[in-house]
Amino acid sequence: MFESLAEPKVDAILGLMAAFRADERTDKLDLGVGVYKDPAGKTPVMRAIKTAEARLLDEQDTKSYVSPGGSTAFCEAMIAQVFGAKADKSRIRAVQSVGGSGALRILADFIHETRPEACAWVSDPTWPNHIPLLGAAGIELKRYPYYDATHSKVDFAAMMAALGEASSGDIVVLHGCCHNPTGADLDRAQWQDVIALLKERELFPLVDLAYQGFGIGLEEDAGPTRLLAEEMDEFVVAASCSKNLGLYRERVGAALIVARNTADATRAHGRLTTVVRANYSMPPDHGANTTERVLTDSALNEEWRSELESMRLRMVGLRKDFSEAMRKRSNSDRFDYITRQQGMFSRLPLDTAQIDRLREEFGIYMVGDGRINVAGLPENDMDRLADAICTVTGTA
Ligand code: LMR
Repeated sequence: MFESLAEPKVDAILGLMAAFRADERTDKLDLGVGVYKDPAGKTPVMRAIKTAEARLLDEQDTKSYVSPGGSTAFCEAMIAQVFGAKADKSRIRAVQSVGGSGALRILADFIHETRPEACAWVSDPTWPNHIPLLGAAGIELKRYPYYDATHSKVDFAAMMAALGEASSGDIVVLHGCCHNPTGADLDRAQWQDVIALLKERELFPLVDLAYQGFGIGLEEDAGPTRLLAEEMDEFVVAASCSKNLGLYRERVGAALIVARNTADATRAHGRLTTVVRANYSMPPDHGANTTERVLTDSALNEEWRSELESMRLRMVGLRKDFSEAMRKRSNSDRFDYITRQQGMFSRLPLDTAQIDRLREEFGIYMVGDGRINVAGLPENDMDRLADAICTVTGTA
């Protein structure tokens, strides 16, 4: 059975992680995988998480099953975090998931089971794993243009024109904030136009909300998702706790359903839990239990929000420092756009040969499309990075 297997395709991001680990140079620089890093290059466990975990260890008195949908209190806390205190909760339901990716996968299975003929439209570019992940659920994928690389901004006219061609009932995957990989987000007026188009063409949004709190702020980053909830009858959201709670390896997130009314919400929730049961039966508890404590205990919640905000501000500062270093070294304003983008990623205007040379010659690792993890930018060594980029682009 195994001898005829083809070699697996190396994942663009995970392959880079492995190559970075294997690199023995001490001055190597990791701008690859999207994990937050502090000034020492570490991805720390957040303070409120540590406290919550200690309480969990102390207080938990059983490891018995919870349920396919996970903890109800966790789900309620996630609904409040994503949709805000004022949302009409009677039409919203959530299922605890195995990270944001797990939420995407169970939503994709649920969508494909419910509407097998629907295509899913993903932005071009998008997070590389969207394609195999949604594709594995059997959904046919199409792309809508999203990014104007020449001007380093959203190509809104092209996006709207492509989505104008989608068939009624198709799925549109939207990044709720902090677009991965470009960092270029829609503004509020653009979101309103997109929503008007979704309604007019009867399209169904699937929002990927993996970076809430990394862009403009925890509440602000949920703004587009909350606007969708005000305007649309039905949609779904895949929310991740990997980044904003730093729980990457614990695999915790939520699949959220917004329905027309309570009866539809309850029915859809029931179907989604049957998808979970058929997939992996039940989600792991540790990360969700920890998150529930952080989101529902007011002192822990305040501590978490403040640490998250300082992480966000650090990334905003790194964007500014990097673009200034590039301005100085390249003697141009070509990289100023970095300060206008949001979240953990931006894309550098480099070609494959330049990206390869940065890695091979300078030990600087970034994804093959020029995506950089802003949190990995070297606070105290920005000039070395700027020099290397100018060397490979011939602008030094
Ligand atoms: C990323 O985009 O780097 C992260 O979401 C990590 C991953 O799983 O790809």
